[in-house]
Amino acid sequence: MPARLHDSCPNCGVPIASHINFGIGNQMKRIVAAAFGIVLVAGQAYADGHASGDPEAGDKAFRKCKTCHSIVSADGDTIVKGGKTGPNLWGLPGRVAGTEENFTKYKKAIVEAGDRGLVWNEDDFVIYAQDPQKFLRDYLDDNKARSGMVFKLKKEEEAADIWAFISANSPAPE
Ligand code: HEC
Repeated sequence: MPARLHDSCPNCGVPIASHINFGIGNQMKRIVAAAFGIVLVAGQAYADGHASGDPEAGDKAFRKCKTCHSIVSADGDTIVKGGKTGPNLWGLPGRVAGTEENFTKYKKAIVEAGDRGLVWNEDDFVIYAQDPQKFLRDYLDDNKARSGMVFKLKKEEEAADIWAFISANSPAPE
């Protein structure tokens, strides 16, 4: 007989329904949670709804980035057509720094930051966007670290808005 949702798990006695979370992504978890009327308290902001900035303002501010960056989905949908001097920023939330697979010109420092565990989130992104080189020097504790991105965004608020815009157009991070 297949196990039913209200049966208890033979291994641990917990209702089978609460095991459904295993092995599936956040999206499914939310659907499952909604279906069972459970409120999931997420420790991490979801990509779209919970970024602190304004995605529409971010769309406009992204003009400053698109000289060097595009936003093109994995399916090839062009959200922002931009330059190729910098990596594609689609899917940035939750991506390990320095790992966009089609970009071959990363400098050493950002790859090293990724190796040491830098995964893009709003807080780090907002600081990075205002001064990438300083961010990397602080992150790596190395005053000689060099960033390949020379551009600096002047306003913190704009950085948060751009994060919201990128997030709204990217899948939710795991
Ligand atoms: C003059 C070109 C240029 C501009 C303008 C520019 N960037 Fe970049 N950006 C780069 C380059 C080149 C890199 C790769 C950095 C490295 O190798 O250290 C990069 C890297 C990044 C990364 C790290 C991505 C990764 O895969 O780890 C982020 C995030 C980023 N840029 C955001 C922005 C945002 C947001 C803007 C606009 C506010 C912007 N950039 C404007 C050239 C640019």
